[in-house]
Amino acid sequence: MIKFTVASTKGGVGKTTLTANLGALLADMGLRVLLVDADVQPSLSKYYRLVVSPPSAGLTQVLLKGEVVRECITPTDIAGLDIVVSDDPEGHLPNWLLNRIDRGFRLMFALRSPVVAAQYDCVLIDTPGAIGPLQDAAVMAADILVSPITPEILSAREFRDGTMELLERLEPGSALGATLGPVKAVIYRQDRTADARLIANGIREDFIRLKGRVSVLDTVVPHAKAYKEAATLRIPVHRHERRREGVMPSASAVMHQLAWELIPSLQGIEAEDRSEVRSEGPRA
Ligand SMILES: Nc1ncnc2c1ncn2[C@@H]1O[C@H](COP(=O)(O)OP(=O)(O)O)[C@@H](O)[C@H]1O
Ligand SMILES: [Mg+2]
Repeated sequence: MIKFTVASTKGGVGKTTLTANLGALLADMGLRVLLVDADVQPSLSKYYRLVVSPPSAGLTQVLLKGEVVRECITPTDIAGLDIVVSDDPEGHLPNWLLNRIDRGFRLMFALRSPVVAAQYDCVLIDTPGAIGPLQDAAVMAADILVSPITPEILSAREFRDGTMELLERLEPGSALGATLGPVKAVIYRQDRTADARLIANGIREDFIRLKGRVSVLDTVVPHAKAYKEAATLRIPVHRHERRREGVMPSASAVMHQLAWELIPSLQGIEAEDRSEVRSEGPRA
C-alpha cells in the first residue's frame, strides 16, 4: 500500500482538485483507493456523491480512537473509491491534536489499522492550506508528499521557503521513527510552458537547499476549465474530458501521465469506469 499526502504551504493551489481527481483515476485503473479529508473545511468530502449520507463517522473518530474502524469509512459513488470524511465543522480537532504529545504520529499510526491495510492499495490525504497540527499529522503520515505549485515566480519562492520550513519543523520526528517522505512538486495551473521550465529549473537549483528531498515531476497540469466543470458535475476530470482538440493535452491524458509518474508500476494501465463494467456484468 502506498500513501500520498497532497500538501502545500499555500491555499487555493489545487490540492483538493488534485486529490479528488487522482483518487478517482486510480480507482478507475482498478486500485482500491481511500481518500482522507484532513482539512476542517470539508471540500474533498463534498467532491463526490456519498453512498451513505450523512456518513456514520469520519476523521474525528479516526483521530480520537487513533484507529480506522469500518464506520469511519464511507463509499463514494465511484466504484473502488472510499473516503474518511472531515466531520469537524467547528474546527475542534486541530486544538485537540495540539494538546497531544503524539499529535504528529496519530494519523500515521491510525492508517496502519488492519482495515486500511486489508482493503486499500492506495491512501490519498488532502490537507488544509495553512500550517497547523492537522497539516503536520497528514504530512507525517505520507510515504510521498505531492505538492502542487502554481507557476508565478512569487509562489515558486513561497514554495521553496515554505517547504524548507516544513521539512525543518517536522524533521525532529524522524528521530522517533517516522521519516518524512520525499516531496514531488507538480507544476500546476500552468498556461505557458516556458514559465514552467523556468520554475522547474529554479526548484532544481534549490534542490540541495531543499535537503535533496524535493524533485519536480515531468507532468505539468495546465490551467483548464475542465477541472472546474468536472468539480461542478461531481465527476472525475478524466471522465469529463477524455479527448481534446488542439495542442493542449486532454485532462484525461494529463491525469494518466501524473498517475504513471507517481506510481510507475501502473504505466500503460488505462482507466475504465468500473461502475459501468460492473453493471454490464462480466465481459466475455
Ligand atoms: N487545473 C486547473 N485549472 C483551472 N482551475 C483549477 C484547476 N485545478 C483547480 N482549479 C480551481 O482552483 C480552485 C482552487 O482549487 P482547490 O483544489 O480547491 O485548491 P486547494 O484545495 O489547494 O485550496 C477551485 O475553484 C478549482 O476548481
Ligand atoms: Mg482544499
